Amino acid sequence: MTKPAFNLTWHALSAHREALGEQHLNEIFAADPARAARMQLEACGVFLDYSKNRVTDETLTLLFGLAREAGLAEHTTAMFEGARINTTEARSVLHTALRRPAGASLGVEGHDVMADVVAVRERIRRFSEQVRVGSWLGYTGRPITDVVNIGIGGSDLGPLMVCEALQAFAHPGLRMHFVSNVDGVQIDDVLKKVNPQTTLFIVASKTFTTQETLTNAHTARSWLIGHAGSDAAVARHFVAVSTNAEAVSAFGIDTDNMFGFWDWVGGRYSLWSAIGLPIVLQIGADAFDRLLAGAHAMDEHFRTAPLEQNLPVIMALLGIWNIDFLDAPTQVIAPYHQRLHRLPAYLQQLDMESNGKSVKLDGSPVRCHTSPVIWGEPGINGQHAYFQMLHQGTRFAPIDFIGVLDHPAHLDHHHRVAFANMVAQAEALMRGKSAPEVEAEMRAAGLAEERIRALIPHRVFPGNRPSNMLLLERLDPFGLGALIALYEHRTFVQGVVWGVNSFDQWGVELGKQLAARVLEDLGATSDSNPHDASTAALIERYRQHARAGDPAR
Ligand code: F6P
Repeated sequence: MTKPAFNLTWHALSAHREALGEQHLNEIFAADPARAARMQLEACGVFLDYSKNRVTDETLTLLFGLAREAGLAEHTTAMFEGARINTTEARSVLHTALRRPAGASLGVEGHDVMADVVAVRERIRRFSEQVRVGSWLGYTGRPITDVVNIGIGGSDLGPLMVCEALQAFAHPGLRMHFVSNVDGVQIDDVLKKVNPQTTLFIVASKTFTTQETLTNAHTARSWLIGHAGSDAAVARHFVAVSTNAEAVSAFGIDTDNMFGFWDWVGGRYSLWSAIGLPIVLQIGADAFDRLLAGAHAMDEHFRTAPLEQNLPVIMALLGIWNIDFLDAPTQVIAPYHQRLHRLPAYLQQLDMESNGKSVKLDGSPVRCHTSPVIWGEPGINGQHAYFQMLHQGTRFAPIDFIGVLDHPAHLDHHHRVAFANMVAQAEALMRGKSAPEVEAEMRAAGLAEERIRALIPHRVFPGNRPSNMLLLERLDPFGLGALIALYEHRTFVQGVVWGVNSFDQWGVELGKQLAARVLEDLGATSDSNPHDASTAALIERYRQHARAGDPAR
């Protein structure tokens, strides 16, 4: 793939990559064991060891030069100050304002956005306290026991991931449910489990026009009214989180029960806003403030630390090195704490919706690879599934290992086993196992010569597979806030270097438009089916099935 011709450092990096050739991490470590101590960093309770990347000091110096050349400092200031850096939507990008402490002010185009932020925070605090202490009552006078968040994308993934991660801080009397899929099964399952008298629905949608969310919300509303016998119950059981008061009202939710946010909060950056309401309900407003404080601490670190000691910058530049110079098409996220099991899905939207772009801000082609495919699962489970490919596959995939040091005393043995596996996997991926090692091992085990010859190629591990090791001191609101903000800024830095707009998502629109047309055609009684032959046949198959009736019903 052609590299950006204008960028001298990019050329220098390409030449440097050629010079490094296939130098193995084992050789690099043998020549310079001190790199382990040099290539580690800690900020805001997050520790990073990045020494197992296929980089030298020279690589890093060049990469820092790349960030400087891209104007990272200026772009960062512009974002934090509220300049309209989301140019295709003419919007500021101010999720960092959402985690600023109360008392700080931030004037953007003559308006103090912090006054608005703090006012919504206070309303959320009051409302969530009422629910949590049991004084917010349902239509029969009973307190809330179940909260159902109906939303999708950024209006689901962030709150869901954080609620899962912070289970240890959860209110014991409130059960949280998340409904995002419009297939009907998910909402059906939840509605079977909950009691209409004690269930609170949060309809979370920035635009309040999202088909999946509104379909699920209408179903929930009809279910509630069906049980309560009157739509007066909606006021006690439905709240909305949105930027679109008109649509909230039209849906039938009083705007007194709406928590607002602003167009300068992107969906995938919105868990810090009112979209975080399920989190506040689950862990309380004080703990939510600590989540914000962790993210704010990472914001300050990112804004002020020199590039060479800047966690998000280093992770971003290593990512660019892997993607564009070592040709890694994907990036694995492997958390070794079960409560972080939704982190890969969350980061998938953060990264791929932000940087999955092929044109630059000025509309010209990017000419290098941008967002990798982000994927993953809890690492321990992955070891018995996808790690085979990581160790011996033809494509290499850099990995972020994410561990947590602190753990309950009674889980000490389990924690030790999990931690040992995480560290060993990183070591194995880097070190590999050579043919002579494999041969010696099999000979010691007494295998026949012929068998040894046949098995060697299958049992060799090439190694030289890079990884980052991220360690959280503990999985608490502050640490989690810092970790999420770290990935947000990593995404931002990569977007700046690639020159793309990380804050729009035009790529999701075409599917939405066509879905509306296909939906109409599925129900059409006429023979009209104005699609390509494949799509038309699929629509016809659906129609035929509908006409015949489902015999299973
Ligand atoms: O379709 C993509 C998207 O717009 C995401 O960017 C967003 O997080 C999600 O849909 C949900 O949007 P909304 O909050 O407006 O319902």
